Amino acid sequence: MAPSSSLFSLLLFALLLGTARAEDPYHFHTWDVKYATLSPLGTPQKIITINDQFPGPRLNGTSNNNIVVNVFNHLDEPLLFTWNGIQQRKNSWQEGLPGTNCPIPPGTNVTYKFQVKDQIGSYYYYPSTSLHRAAGGYGPITVHSRELIPVPYDFPEAEHTVLVGDWYTKPLPDLTKLLDSGRSLGRPEGVLINGKGGKIESNPNPKEEPMFTMLPGKTYRYRFCNVGMKNSINVRFQKHSMKLVEVEGSHTVQNIYDSLDVHLGQCYAVLVTADQEPGDYYLIASTRFTKEAVASRALVRYDGGKAPAPAEIPEAPVGWAWSLNQFRSQRWNLTASAARPNPQGSYHYGKINITRTIKIVNSAGAVDGKLRYAINGVSHVNPETPLKLAEYFRVADKVFKYNLIKDDPGEVGETMTMAPDVVNATFRDFIEIIFENREKSVQTWHLSGYSFFSVAIEPGKWTPAKRSNYNLLDAVSRNTIQVYPGCWAAVMLTMDNAGMWNLRAGSTERAYLGQQLYFSVLSPELSLRDEYNLPDDQLLCGIVKDMPRTKLYTI
Ligand SMILES: *[C@@H]1O[C@H](CO)[C@@H](O)[C@H](O)[C@H]1NC(C)=O
Ligand SMILES: *[C@@H]1O[C@H](CO)[C@@H](O)[C@H](O)[C@H]1NC(C)=O
Ligand SMILES: *[C@@H]1O[C@H](CO)[C@@H](O)[C@H](O)[C@H]1NC(C)=O
Ligand SMILES: *[C@@H]1O[C@H](CO)[C@@H](O)[C@H](O)[C@H]1NC(C)=O
Ligand SMILES: *[C@@H]1O[C@H](CO)[C@@H](O)[C@H](O)[C@H]1NC(C)=O
Repeated sequence: MAPSSSLFSLLLFALLLGTARAEDPYHFHTWDVKYATLSPLGTPQKIITINDQFPGPRLNGTSNNNIVVNVFNHLDEPLLFTWNGIQQRKNSWQEGLPGTNCPIPPGTNVTYKFQVKDQIGSYYYYPSTSLHRAAGGYGPITVHSRELIPVPYDFPEAEHTVLVGDWYTKPLPDLTKLLDSGRSLGRPEGVLINGKGGKIESNPNPKEEPMFTMLPGKTYRYRFCNVGMKNSINVRFQKHSMKLVEVEGSHTVQNIYDSLDVHLGQCYAVLVTADQEPGDYYLIASTRFTKEAVASRALVRYDGGKAPAPAEIPEAPVGWAWSLNQFRSQRWNLTASAARPNPQGSYHYGKINITRTIKIVNSAGAVDGKLRYAINGVSHVNPETPLKLAEYFRVADKVFKYNLIKDDPGEVGETMTMAPDVVNATFRDFIEIIFENREKSVQTWHLSGYSFFSVAIEPGKWTPAKRSNYNLLDAVSRNTIQVYPGCWAAVMLTMDNAGMWNLRAGSTERAYLGQQLYFSVLSPELSLRDEYNLPDDQLLCGIVKDMPRTKLYTI
């Protein structure tokens, strides 16, 4: 092709891209974030509300829609929100984590702008600063398929978002003090379902308002996310089974389950058909793998139904072997069409050569006598200057060191160092991450900016020979994976999203005390095709506060 014609097609491409983007609808939101006194478990406590709601309002849209959220911080502390599961293609500027963004000072506002590019599915947002999420501030995000893209099930009558999670009644400053002084949060006091805690053992109350309603004979989509602090949650309905249809953005093979384990940070969408005697039924959410389960219930009412909920409460499964089997039964529906953010990695991911294997080993220990958690011996701390900004302004060497951890750490003891933990990744590499859990509790891991193929979870220690056990055909592409005690899990992904991305423990306590790191993924060509420039209105802080804003990336 002659240089002029290739330039022409490039321009045409840019033009088309520009038009396509302009046509994608915008959804504008204004959020007033403040404290309110609420008593979800009977004890009055200060809870973070958004526009006076807890959970916060739903962010809803269709693939490729643009979301604009103008956040007013009325708290007395700096604040950030992160959009858990939204991939922010080329745009870690909007990630809203302490490693990517300067916090919103109290009494001011900041506007997040992002596109839910090539995604569908069930996600959520939460405040990512300090321990704010222990005080609420979370809410659902739902992304629907575009009209022309078929969804592999009949359109449900309606849908319900269900945020479940364990919950503490201690005031936020007390919880923060516990962690800062090197202790653990201890056990949660209860479980909330959409911000409410319904006592599971009390008798049906005819005056109880239903949280969800269904028309007899109709099918509903329930989107569950575990937004809790510490525990896996099992969800189940009285007398109704659930048909799994989506896991964190992937249409799945539609298995039927009586109950579903939703591990920390995970989201699942199921279909429930109102096919029982019209009346009341409970949805139960209870903690898993704890000595004594804490639980909650929410009322589901058939429209016009009069019968009280059945007395019998279905039991949760026991032990993690059941849960591992449930993981193995979850498969990607290969024939369903869908928005796919990773075209290179999507089809036939099992045939791509692995260029790098990173082993992530979690550990608990103490630094100066205080409890800390680490990855491969490094316990992450957030510097005052966000990592992404330090890198963009070319002052990374003043803020952090790259690659403190080894890809294969060998035996990891209790000793650890505290430092900002940033790992270089090569743009477009196809990598494998192995999570080894040598501890006694179930762990989960979330990666921002990506979804990965969850190819295996197995008991024992990982060796390269275990690759022959991977599901290289229809593993679910998702963003959070659980690892049972004494087990390992393997995921695969293409690092094709340039930016600064966070890998973190799903347990808030662990992430807060250092069990997280950032992947720095840079496009070598400094091209706008691969990453957006620093937005003009991006807050600056730390050592880059007064530096001139340059445009690093060009066409
Ligand atoms: C969410 O968005 C979808 C697609 O844009 C729309 O069909 C649906 O009505 C919206 N739901 C709510 C509750 O706003
Ligand atoms: C703050 O809110 C005002 C009023 O809505 C808006 O005009 C302004 O752009 C916002 N500022 C930022 C930095 O988002
Ligand atoms: C997978 O999706 C296809 C196409 O939409 C659908 O017909 C099929 O029923 C789905 N398969 C399973 C096992 O859920
Ligand atoms: C993958 O690796 C194998 C063995 O090293 C090699 O023969 C093959 O050409 C590679 N495939 C690709 C697509 O690079
Ligand atoms: C990591 O990436 C940074 C930024 O591109 C670069 O300066 C550094 O040399 C890289 N380090 C290694 C070990 O690749």
